[in-house]
Amino acid sequence: MSNKSLVSITDYTKDDILRILELTSKFDANPNRRLLEGKVCATLFFEPSTRTRLSFETAVNRLGGRIIGFSDAATTSSSKGESLKDTIKMVNNYADIIIMRHHLEGAARYASEVSNVPIINAGDGANQHPTQTMLDLYSIYKTQGTLENLTITMVGDLKYGRTVHSLLIGMSHFNPTFIFVAPEELKLPDTYKDFCNSHKIKYEEYTDFSADVIKRSDILYMTRVQRERFTDLMEYEKVKNVYILKKNMLEGTKDNLRILHPLPRVNEIQQDVDDSPKAYYFEQAKNGMFTREAVICDALGIKVE
Ligand code: CP
Repeated sequence: MSNKSLVSITDYTKDDILRILELTSKFDANPNRRLLEGKVCATLFFEPSTRTRLSFETAVNRLGGRIIGFSDAATTSSSKGESLKDTIKMVNNYADIIIMRHHLEGAARYASEVSNVPIINAGDGANQHPTQTMLDLYSIYKTQGTLENLTITMVGDLKYGRTVHSLLIGMSHFNPTFIFVAPEELKLPDTYKDFCNSHKIKYEEYTDFSADVIKRSDILYMTRVQRERFTDLMEYEKVKNVYILKKNMLEGTKDNLRILHPLPRVNEIQQDVDDSPKAYYFEQAKNGMFTREAVICDALGIKVE
């Protein structure tokens, strides 16, 4: 794939995923390469972000490109009623690639249909976050030495967590066993369970975050309850602290267990876990920079030696 948008992780075949992971390892070894000289990259963030925006912008800087964009849509003409289509058409006049986060599911797909430069989806509502998936896959590969035949336990907000939805699809090429742990209110939507069934992917579902589940896991993928997606904040209050990972819960777990979290965290991982060699979420976020260098180069059809 070259000079193409990345809207959903389904835009990548298994071969694409493996190729991007290989490219990511090159940037991990040497992140500073002048591959984007003369290119302008736009970051349009209609929703808040720390890691995604800053790691994309660092990636562009390390590759010698230039950045335009915004992190607060209230400062743009969309606050005066300008449509997403017109915004994209305008940025098409200025930039070679657009990296966009938007609160509406499907916004990135729509942008890719009206844009004449590649669109990289940096998260659209509760739908997809494909570059997070690529950095999650890279982190899993780096810590486990393989992507095949792993037991991946996903914990927390499986209803609104777009990183969960994307990772589930990304891992589907590698014969995973999924364990889904969520309260009734935040269970994985049926559409993703249907996806598992139709792809013959093994999964188990629990409301209890038990010691047995943690001990069987290769990867514990913790997630934040997504307060911004709730229309009734009383419902959020009921579930916000439903699962909290504590250091003593790691006793007797597999040596290769690694704890991932797309971040930001709120209360779902206690700070004393941070010192555990099994905590990998800060390195995971660092991997995002290398992954995004790879994704940008791939989308622009730039060869990396
Ligand atoms: N993981 C992630 O998307 O973090 P940000 O919301 O800070 O970008």
